[in-house]
Amino acid sequence: MRTHLSGQLRRADIGQRVSLAGWVLNRRDHGGVIFIDLRDRSGVVQVVADPDAPGPFAVADKARAEFVLRVEGAVRARPDGTVNPDLPSGDIEVAAQTIELLNRAEPLPFQIDDEDLSEATRLKYRFLDLRRAPMQTALRLRHRVVSAIRGFLDARDFVDIETPVLTRSTPEGARDYLVPSRTHPGAFFALPQSPQLFKQLLMVGGFERYYQIARCFRDEDLRADRQPEFTQLDVEMAFVDEAEVMALMEEMLREVFELAAGVELPAPLPRMTCAEALARYGSDRPDLRVDLELTELTDLMTTVEFKVFSGPASDPTGRVAALRVPGGGADGGDGGAGISRAQIDHYTEFVGRFGAKGLAYIKVGDASAGRDGLQSPILKFLPDQVLAQILERSGAANGDLIFFGADKAAVVNAALGALRVEIGRDLSLAAPGWRPLWVVDFPLLAWNEDAKRFEAQHHPFTAPRAADIEDLESAPERVLSRAYDLVLNGVEIGGGSIRIHQAELQQRVLATLGIDAAQARAQFGFLLDALQYGAPPHGGIAFGIDRIAAMLAGADSIRDVIAFPKTQSASCLLTEAPGAVDAGQLRELGLRAAKTRTGK
Ligand code: AMO
Ligand code: AMP
Repeated sequence: MRTHLSGQLRRADIGQRVSLAGWVLNRRDHGGVIFIDLRDRSGVVQVVADPDAPGPFAVADKARAEFVLRVEGAVRARPDGTVNPDLPSGDIEVAAQTIELLNRAEPLPFQIDDEDLSEATRLKYRFLDLRRAPMQTALRLRHRVVSAIRGFLDARDFVDIETPVLTRSTPEGARDYLVPSRTHPGAFFALPQSPQLFKQLLMVGGFERYYQIARCFRDEDLRADRQPEFTQLDVEMAFVDEAEVMALMEEMLREVFELAAGVELPAPLPRMTCAEALARYGSDRPDLRVDLELTELTDLMTTVEFKVFSGPASDPTGRVAALRVPGGGADGGDGGAGISRAQIDHYTEFVGRFGAKGLAYIKVGDASAGRDGLQSPILKFLPDQVLAQILERSGAANGDLIFFGADKAAVVNAALGALRVEIGRDLSLAAPGWRPLWVVDFPLLAWNEDAKRFEAQHHPFTAPRAADIEDLESAPERVLSRAYDLVLNGVEIGGGSIRIHQAELQQRVLATLGIDAAQARAQFGFLLDALQYGAPPHGGIAFGIDRIAAMLAGADSIRDVIAFPKTQSASCLLTEAPGAVDAGQLRELGLRAAKTRTGK
């Protein structure tokens, strides 16, 4: 239907006769002459319909936004003074000789180039939203990411293998999406939270190098970087240790970032233990762009009079830490980055969301003047030498503000870790750019206080460090795992581990998790069986494709790099899924529906 793409026409094409097809981005009637910006996947060009050519002029006259047209005409230079430097094709225009109306469009719910749309409107009319340049750019970027991944892995003997979507529950820690079976009334499939068990079976099955761009399903509370169905690059390798997996995946990421977005990542990527990340940043996915660190104060506070500090400091699971904000204690008036009383109240409320019961602070006026140079409601509870230590350890200078967290270590880490990033953003303390790192040496297990038992920090198939296996029963909290997470600018973009490949060790770890032999057999007996028939040592990783694409696209939410995403309440505004089904379908499945809340 066409000879050229609209957005690709340039000065060099002047004189060419071209045939174009696309949508009317807008139409302007300039006293008899009609201008149409014709858009296709490549961009936009200006088409001119002159009343001297009555055929095309009549069609142009009737055309409206998003009508679909085919235009034949000649490329010519735009007259002096009408060149549009903002448009790649802005030097030229196409004088229409024929215009064919391929389809009409109803008046639109919004203008395609409107930059100020509500997300609800965009999702309801996603087919129109997708025509917008930012969506076109984002999905093409996502495609380049996936295509670069395939190129890299295909060249290294990885085999792309699909695994079932109708399967059994996999224990990745979220709630399952269930699908009732018609042929087995009362029984359910679960949609996979990841292909974890199948990829391990593929290693037992002798493939050695597997990958898949796999859809995963998790019924969990949604956030900007979580969707109920999302896409992983899932990888597994046999006969490897963690260093080999990490080295290859680093190389892949560097190639993918370079090819898909021209982004250069450091080589090699830095590594940090989980313990160090928590101590310095309060988070096992630290955003290294923010140049603020926590200061350890627990050992200083055990005997102070201030119970808010001495309590947690004396509790083996407690922590007292500080966060120094350079310039945060300066007077707003002198141009410093001073944090006002109202902002302190705001931050106190902010850390409250992470369970912190307060946010003590000290303003440093004159660090050399000791107590007299400081300003804080808690000064009177702290002896001189403790104050001196706080200043020394945190490196406080005049004009700084020091915040304090004191609670269970998990609460202090969550609160000050998030505050660190929040303040970094508010005070523009974050350096631009890409700061990836590997986080390693995670604990194998995490204590769940509500359930009063250990849970797997990653998943139950993660191998413990060989040296720690003897502690599994006697001191499970001390056992470290062979897991690794890839963190980029504060976002966990991937995670994996070396797996347990021996049935006996797998049983021991499951027992530590409170899963007895009978339960283990019922839930994943097939894996335990497979481990008994010559399972090779193996390990792998999964990356969140949506998260990687969103970061490269500079999007705030992964919804912006998913063609048809779901809302925060896990519904699709376009198709109105989930929806009711008819009574006959339910009868066949042996189910009865409670009244649907959506009323559909
Ligand atoms: P994990 O659960 O850490 O590991 O998931 C791997 C990566 O997937 C991304 N991700 C998500 N992205 C969008 N929405 C979600 N709801 C969501 N949940 C996770 C994250 C995360 O790093 N089977 C293991 C991998 C392995 O051990 O090989 C697994 O699924 O970027
Ligand atoms: P209070 O003695 O409760 O009035 O608290 C004195 C100061 O300590 C206030 O600034 C509180 O915000 C702060 N504070 C209270 N509890 C904590 C806590 N667990 N961690 C850090 N600061 C706290």
